[in-house]
Amino acid sequence: MSKLIELVDIVTNFYTYEGSVKALNRVSLTIEHGSSFGLVGESGCGKSVTARSMMRIVQEPGRIESGNVLLYLDEHDEKKMIDLMQQSEAYMVDLRGNKISMIFQEPNAALNPIMSVGEQVAESFLFHQKQELCKKVLDDLNSPNCKTIYPLKKLLQSVYRAAEKNPDSFGLKLMSKIPVLKWWRRRMKREALKHSVEIIAKLGIPNPDEVVKLYPHNLSGGMKQRIVIAIALACNPVLLIADEATSNLDVTIQAQILELLRELKQKEISSVLLITHDLGVVAETCDRVGVMYAGNLCEVADVKDLFSHPRHPYTRALLGSVPKLSQEGELQSIEGNVPNLVTPPPGCRFHPRCPYRKGICSVELPELRKVGKNHQAACHVLPE
Ligand SMILES: Nc1ncnc2c1ncn2[C@@H]1O[C@H](COP(=O)(O)OP(=O)(O)O)[C@@H](O)[C@H]1O
Ligand SMILES: [Mg+2]
Repeated sequence: MSKLIELVDIVTNFYTYEGSVKALNRVSLTIEHGSSFGLVGESGCGKSVTARSMMRIVQEPGRIESGNVLLYLDEHDEKKMIDLMQQSEAYMVDLRGNKISMIFQEPNAALNPIMSVGEQVAESFLFHQKQELCKKVLDDLNSPNCKTIYPLKKLLQSVYRAAEKNPDSFGLKLMSKIPVLKWWRRRMKREALKHSVEIIAKLGIPNPDEVVKLYPHNLSGGMKQRIVIAIALACNPVLLIADEATSNLDVTIQAQILELLRELKQKEISSVLLITHDLGVVAETCDRVGVMYAGNLCEVADVKDLFSHPRHPYTRALLGSVPKLSQEGELQSIEGNVPNLVTPPPGCRFHPRCPYRKGICSVELPELRKVGKNHQAACHVLPE
């Protein structure tokens, strides 16, 4: 499999009054074309900051200090890689929601309460896919069924042809100012709305023609999250990032949304990055997993490997704290607390809580290294 996106040694800090929070401490990870990657770890370990760094949307007072975010859009040619850290903000605005989409825990925060859901999905097209929409309107104008009178048709054709080349063209803007032509400007919106019905239908929502006219408050939590997914999918992203996207939903709805993501991964989108604190969700949904602890990625492996043969002491502790039906006696908990990231422990950040620690662990940060086929762990000791 070939790489889709690669984080290389990302360091992200937050500059707060208490001091600088060292949220990501040289995080490197790779997501491949066609894979679904699960990122797990306790709350506060840096999962969301990793995703936000990937899209360059780290909030104030945070800053990405160093590292690279390499995007390989061409599956067959690794040389056509782009370093997102080197791109302009304008480039990133176009990329977000278009090539990489993100959905969050709280659908209400992502939806506009005073716009119908259809319009909100359509907006995503209108923003990112003006060229495709112009092309559709042009096809209509060029078809023999078009009843528009000749000189007007000629004018519209030339405006839309120019707009297809440059969607921010002057002609299109001018059209929205002239009352008679405004109607034609609205054609693009109509095309976008048609498209939004299609995409909502694809998500298995019954009566899409009716649903597009509803407002967020008319919908249940699970339905709202589906609409958020529809907005995220509107432009066929290559990577969909779901950050605790199902954590707030009932278990049955959660299962439905996860099933939907799984189906979409097979049909629509190339890759998914699923962020969750729930190991069960990852076991069921992902084919690769990364385990994070206190701003470091400590283990990466194929799902089966990670669950059957975890190598990092933290992963083992994390798996030991999940209840199993077959297990008797008490659950194991991990001694100690997650460290404060203003003054993280030196060396391996897990060493104060690690039962296997040695001298070197408090001195040197262990690098991720190969411990098996497609399996890496960052540990000096690597207990058998
Ligand atoms: N806006 C912020 N200001 C200060 N610290 C922050 C901010 N956002 C995140 N952090 C810190 O970054 C670390 C990682 O947070 P986050 O990625 O949100 O964790 P999670 O794994 O739960 O998603 C935490 O220690 C958190 O305190
Ligand atoms: Mg989070």
